[in-house]
Amino acid sequence: MSTSTEHVDDVPQNDGTATGDPHVSRETAPALSWAHGGLPPAIDGHRAALVASVPMADESTPLAAQLAIDARRRIELQGRQFPRPARTRIITVANQKGGVGKTTTTVNIAAGLAQSGLKVLVIDNDPQGNASTALGLEHRAGTPSIYEVLVEDEPLANTIQECPSVPGLYGVPATIDLSGAEIELVSLVSRETRLRRALDAYLAEREERGEEQIDYVLVDCPPSLGLLTVNAFVVGREVLIPIQCEYYALEGLSQLLKTIELIKAHLNPELRVSTILLTMYDGRTNLAQQVAAEVREHFPDQTLRTTVPRSVRISEAPSHAQTVMTYDPGSTGSLAYLEAARELAERAPQRADLR
Ligand SMILES: Nc1ncnc2c1ncn2[C@@H]1O[C@H](COP(=O)(O)OP(=O)(O)OP(=O)(O)O)[C@@H](O)[C@H]1O
Ligand SMILES: [Mg+2]
Repeated sequence: MSTSTEHVDDVPQNDGTATGDPHVSRETAPALSWAHGGLPPAIDGHRAALVASVPMADESTPLAAQLAIDARRRIELQGRQFPRPARTRIITVANQKGGVGKTTTTVNIAAGLAQSGLKVLVIDNDPQGNASTALGLEHRAGTPSIYEVLVEDEPLANTIQECPSVPGLYGVPATIDLSGAEIELVSLVSRETRLRRALDAYLAEREERGEEQIDYVLVDCPPSLGLLTVNAFVVGREVLIPIQCEYYALEGLSQLLKTIELIKAHLNPELRVSTILLTMYDGRTNLAQQVAAEVREHFPDQTLRTTVPRSVRISEAPSHAQTVMTYDPGSTGSLAYLEAARELAERAPQRADLR
């Protein structure tokens, strides 16, 4: 079984389940243009014809095949407004396994949704503060953050910052203080439901004031099943599990699902695993294909068709305090996350009055 990952950029981003996409791909050059203002509205009606006009490339020419996929994705997604959900969707991004792409998925899906016309709030519920970094949020010690919300009953509104590079995207940062919260929470009343209370109160206040609905709340979790993650499961109505297509990926999944079942039984009956995203996918390896096939077999309805490839652009973006959606909008990784965001948005019950 081949497990080669020598050329991390030179990898497939689709496991072949998306219609018409070949098994091969390659990170594209960064120069591809992407106007966030989008195509003129008139072009919406012509997208299908434009997509059809992109020449097909067979699997013997992987670079050409990937360029064709990216070109079709750009035409399909550029300037597209995603549908607004009927009510705020609160999605907890969790997997107690470390480094599987939780934070990367949270910030890039959030940016993809916001770029496509939706109002999105990211809650960084991980003491590492990686989501805060990627979104360019101030998160030095002393900054009002999720710690104050959880431990000191600070209203959530006082901690929200606007993400500097993506209009419509907001974030609650995590500071180093949060690393003590697991222990501090133990002795507090209603320790499992503190985040839920804070968010429910904030959303209710907004509604009372007649403010625009927040369409999506995404909560990034630490790699553990402690009280911070429990708070995130209690606030979420949906769980998104990123799964890295590697050998150990499925180990620990049953424990995660058991924890979710316990939370559902005792604290949050609405909670369900709605979405699974395969990340860092390298379709040249049998291993990645086997992991993807196994995940799809067990979770046929939850697993998104789109997979996210390994991409240097995705991993570089946080060092520029950006998501890949603004750091390199035309790259394969960015387009994959935008496609995943679209799939997520199109699965939701939608507001009939809007699109
Ligand atoms: N598709 C990708 N291609 C290349 N690198 C990636 C990709 N997705 C994530 N990474 C990199 O892998 C590392 C782990 O990703 P990330 O921080 O999103 O995982 P995580 O599950 O949030 O980790 P933790 O459990 O520590 O919170 C990071 O360095 C990130 O930049
Ligand atoms: Mg993380």
